[in-house]
Amino acid sequence: MFNLFKRKKEDHKGSQYTSLKIREIVRETPDTVTIYFEQPEPYLEYKAGQYLTVILDINGKEERRSYSLCTSPYVDPHPGITVKRVRGGLVSNYLNDQLRPGKTIEIMKPMGHFTTDYHSQNQRHFVMIAGGSGITPIMGITKSVLINEPQSKVTLIYCSRSENEIIFKKALEDLESKYEGRLMVIHNLSQPSDSWTGLKGRLDSQKIKDILSSISYPELKQVEYFLCGPEGIMETAESTLLGMGVDSKFIHKESFYSNLEAKEEELKAAGKLAPELTREVEVILEGETYHFEVPAGKTILEAGLDHDVDMPYSCQSGLCTACRGKLLSGKVDMIEDAGLSKSEIEEGYILCCSSKPASSDVKIIIE
Ligand SMILES: Cc1cc2nc3c(=O)[nH]c(=O)nc-3n(C[C@H](O)[C@H](O)[C@H](O)COP(=O)(O)OP(=O)(O)OC[C@H]3O[C@@H](n4cnc5c(N)ncnc54)[C@H](O)[C@@H]3O)c2cc1C
Ligand code: FES
Repeated sequence: MFNLFKRKKEDHKGSQYTSLKIREIVRETPDTVTIYFEQPEPYLEYKAGQYLTVILDINGKEERRSYSLCTSPYVDPHPGITVKRVRGGLVSNYLNDQLRPGKTIEIMKPMGHFTTDYHSQNQRHFVMIAGGSGITPIMGITKSVLINEPQSKVTLIYCSRSENEIIFKKALEDLESKYEGRLMVIHNLSQPSDSWTGLKGRLDSQKIKDILSSISYPELKQVEYFLCGPEGIMETAESTLLGMGVDSKFIHKESFYSNLEAKEEELKAAGKLAPELTREVEVILEGETYHFEVPAGKTILEAGLDHDVDMPYSCQSGLCTACRGKLLSGKVDMIEDAGLSKSEIEEGYILCCSSKPASSDVKIIIE
């Protein structure tokens, strides 16, 4: 079983931690807010599409969650995150209901690889496929492309449930008119009102193919795909693109949620996991070596935190890579590796939040 890490609130002193003061909170939809922060000194460095980790003290316990920046460092003077409520979710509802301007919150600085580098001479077509809160990083990337690459164009296919759940509706309309001919936004609603005239229903493979074949920018030779949203939309979009012959190196993905327990059950049922035993591991972190036992059923990160080893983490579900380490010896069972690229896995990188030791000689370095 995976446990959520409900640690006692501590002060984190590493260079990856800082504090941000809330400047403004904007309600985007009934269940989504954007939280803008004052720029700290020195300025918060980030790339469009990265996420930061909020560290909150809720009921005396430390809670961490990852939230993508919705802003662009090239356009927006203040960094911001956009948070959509998850039903029954602790932190997303807290952030929607409990925060006020002026409050300071602790964060881990921006991380993540759902980004691209920009060059004014580039001529690229960006195809963005987003669902729900998945628009957040895509908004930052879209603004950055439009301002930095005058010859590039963006097509955004954005799935929401209904008209009033479209996040950034007005901001997207404004961008479309400001960058006329360079940004096309296609909304798809799963439960629209009767008056909706746009695309509706599930975003299936045929719909994606129809949209993409109707758009042709022959002058733009390079096409980059950015996918972020619920698992179903991401899987449909990725398999459709691969089926169309798109090279996977041009498909960038960011997942917000993974059900680790269900994945572990699947792997267990398929006989792919080592017997669960208590095993000792060695972790090298910031030049210090720690030895600790990982009790049967716990992840390496859970056990490390239980032993007060200040291992970095954010999403706790194998997606964000904040807990990434390199396996120097031994074997682990990694339940979720979605955050890692194929080459990282081949090089021996693991995610401590979703890995359990599968041999007695596990040694990991976290850099
Ligand atoms: C890299 C990264 C970037 C992210 N960026 C954003 C962002 O920009 N905006 C945003 O709103 N969220 C984002 N998230 C998701 C966010 O980190 C939290 O997971 C989310 O807000 C839920 O936290 P919670 O405390 O409210 O729910 P929890 O209390 O952690 O969970 C409550 C219940 O809901 C389930 N659950 C949690 N999340 C989901 C989900 N997405 N879908 C279905 N069930 C779920 C849990 O398994 C649990 O049963 C991001 C996640 C990652 C990994
Ligand atoms: S904490 Fe996000 S991948 Fe492990």
